[in-house]
Amino acid sequence: MDQDSNVKLRGRLLTSSRPLPDFDVERAVGPWLHRTDGSRIFDGSSGLLCANVGQSSPKVFARIEQQFPRYSFGGAAVVQPHIQMELMDRLCTAVGRPDDSVALATCGTLGVEVAVGLARNIVRVRNGKRRGDILTSDLSYHGNSMLTLALAGNHARRPRPEDSLGLGPAFPAPYPPTHGHAHEGHRCDASCANEVARAIDSRGAENVAAVLIEPINGTTGGAFVPPGGYLRRVSEICRERNVLVIHDEVLTGLWRTGTPLASHHWDGCEPDLVILSKGLGAGYVSVGAVLVSPEIAPVLRHKDVDPLPAMGTMATHPLQAAACLGVLDELESMDFGAFAVRGERLGTSLRSLADWASVRDVRGVGYLYGVEVTPGLLWPLVEECERRGVFFYPFTGTGDPRSEGLVVAPPLNSSGEDIDFLTSVLTDAVAALS
Ligand SMILES: Cc1ncc(COP(=O)(O)O)c(C=O)c1O
Repeated sequence: MDQDSNVKLRGRLLTSSRPLPDFDVERAVGPWLHRTDGSRIFDGSSGLLCANVGQSSPKVFARIEQQFPRYSFGGAAVVQPHIQMELMDRLCTAVGRPDDSVALATCGTLGVEVAVGLARNIVRVRNGKRRGDILTSDLSYHGNSMLTLALAGNHARRPRPEDSLGLGPAFPAPYPPTHGHAHEGHRCDASCANEVARAIDSRGAENVAAVLIEPINGTTGGAFVPPGGYLRRVSEICRERNVLVIHDEVLTGLWRTGTPLASHHWDGCEPDLVILSKGLGAGYVSVGAVLVSPEIAPVLRHKDVDPLPAMGTMATHPLQAAACLGVLDELESMDFGAFAVRGERLGTSLRSLADWASVRDVRGVGYLYGVEVTPGLLWPLVEECERRGVFFYPFTGTGDPRSEGLVVAPPLNSSGEDIDFLTSVLTDAVAALS
């Protein structure tokens, strides 16, 4: 793109404050973006943490090609949703929840909205709750609608207090940047879940529908992993109080953290509802899915239930379902042994970056890491990595002192050589700037 068109685009496109990339891409294959200048750059961010099986997948293409001539539109109210049923069966089995019910939506944000609506409905009918409060942590992101922005703790994106619908995060996340007690010399541990109990009790459990939580933090804090036992304790606290647990696995779901769901890293923390999105459409289509456990889904068919917040015009779209089936074909054809080994290698190389004084912390699991750097280093590091051939997504931090750095999240089917390339570029870039 020439300079003039670039300036025009920047003027017309309403986007967040992030700078637009300086390079133009003419073709993307697997994890590689081929630029118009003939060079290629490795996508160490999987798009916006969604292109988990890389780009131009023949398996995804084959599924879309098969569905296209059959019918390209047919919401479930128009055409019997066979392909959507196939997707729901495959998806629930893939994430180890074969008996769940599913609501399909058009993106992660709407998945969260639908989950909130379903949870409120369930607790009203089942437990006669007075209000349907949804409690979130102060280090969370759940989407960019008015409701989800108002609910979540993402500091940089919170609406002004007067525009927040009276909502806001309810408890501190068990991570040092925002959990005050961590600054007093205490390490976060499972007992941080007591803050969730306090938040529910202070509102009255009869007013709380659900706790909505990212089981592993995504881009807000940069891949924080909760202390062992924390999520289990949150689930116990909620169960004791008839409060539902919703896991927002929009970013972490479908093997991003090495397991089908991030919650699979621990025992005893299976949620009542799970939201999936990014890794399901894998950047090919926009999709969201809310999985509801078989213990509570029947309540949604009770005669006193309010209208369900499910099914917009484009939800359960047949081409969307076809693409998602192609993504599952890709994911399930991975050699999971080799996948685990590559993930280990990624983690080991990234953790060794913590030896540099300019790297404050390395955290994460599977194929999702946060590399936190000293203040001022983030943007030079992003540029240095791009110059050397790898694109990373930045997290711009929270807390005091600010924690900011790179999210490292390569496509899950990157080769061993790809992973080695990514880690050596990052190591060289850190060394060059230290
Ligand atoms: C944890 C989490 N929830 C919800 C969303 C919103 O998803 P979408 O951007 O598809 O609306 C995101 C997006 O980054 C996310 O990371």
